[in-house]
Amino acid sequence: MEIIIERDAEGVARQVADRFESVIRHGGRFGVTLGLATGSSPVATYQELIRRHREEGLSFGHARAFLLDEYVGIPRSHEQSYHRFIREHFTSHVDIADELVISPDGQAADPVGEAARYDRGIADAGGVDLQILGIGGNGHIGFNEPTSALTSRTRVKTLTEQTISDNARFFDSPEDVPVHVITQGLGTIMEARRIVLAATGESKASAIAAMIEGPFGAFCPATILQMHPAVTVVVDEDAAGELQDAEYYRFIQRQKSRLEG
Ligand code: F6R
Repeated sequence: MEIIIERDAEGVARQVADRFESVIRHGGRFGVTLGLATGSSPVATYQELIRRHREEGLSFGHARAFLLDEYVGIPRSHEQSYHRFIREHFTSHVDIADELVISPDGQAADPVGEAARYDRGIADAGGVDLQILGIGGNGHIGFNEPTSALTSRTRVKTLTEQTISDNARFFDSPEDVPVHVITQGLGTIMEARRIVLAATGESKASAIAAMIEGPFGAFCPATILQMHPAVTVVVDEDAAGELQDAEYYRFIQRQKSRLEG
């Protein structure tokens, strides 16, 4: 794992955007497949990518995107559906074709079949080149809650009460938060060729420490990333607050910038 500790959320956004830009610029004319997360963590990165699109000509014209997850039972027009969220916060502001921004259908008559279909769709598209992730306070990635199978595929999951209460801030009341989601599985996420996880704020500090330094296991699903060969974790000082070996990660960063600089 590459671990980058930035001073603040803007620094985190720039680091994550740099990785998107690199994949997009080197993707060639056959294009790249991006894996997009929703929630608050990636929003600053999306704003930075929109800025680079407008001011620096960064083009998403050869990109397609798959979302990590979607709530079950709310329509795509609902302001909290992830289908709508990603358009409002990112894709409608850049030159990615709308029909190539793909998400599970949370209103499918058969959500179980829809999840399997979605999983096959990612594989049929050749897999994800760069996946951006956030992390839940309980260590979930996507909506793979604690005890999710480490090899799981895209499927229907039941949210924990903690996640429902964390996400209630986006809804009128906790009762309005859907209990079920369709989420890419941990096995699905692990097939992405590169992964970048962004986290900011003190509320993520214990999950970040558990993911990077804790024992590997399904009770902190994000620990599966310890097994991935190309993961970058970008955190601000607050989210890095519980890392035992933070000085070592900073030392590596300094050595790397000396070599590159
Ligand atoms: C969102 C997702 C979730 C969030 C996580 C953190 O698509 O899959 O894993 O990344 O719940 O949410 P925020 O960023 O709102 O703290």
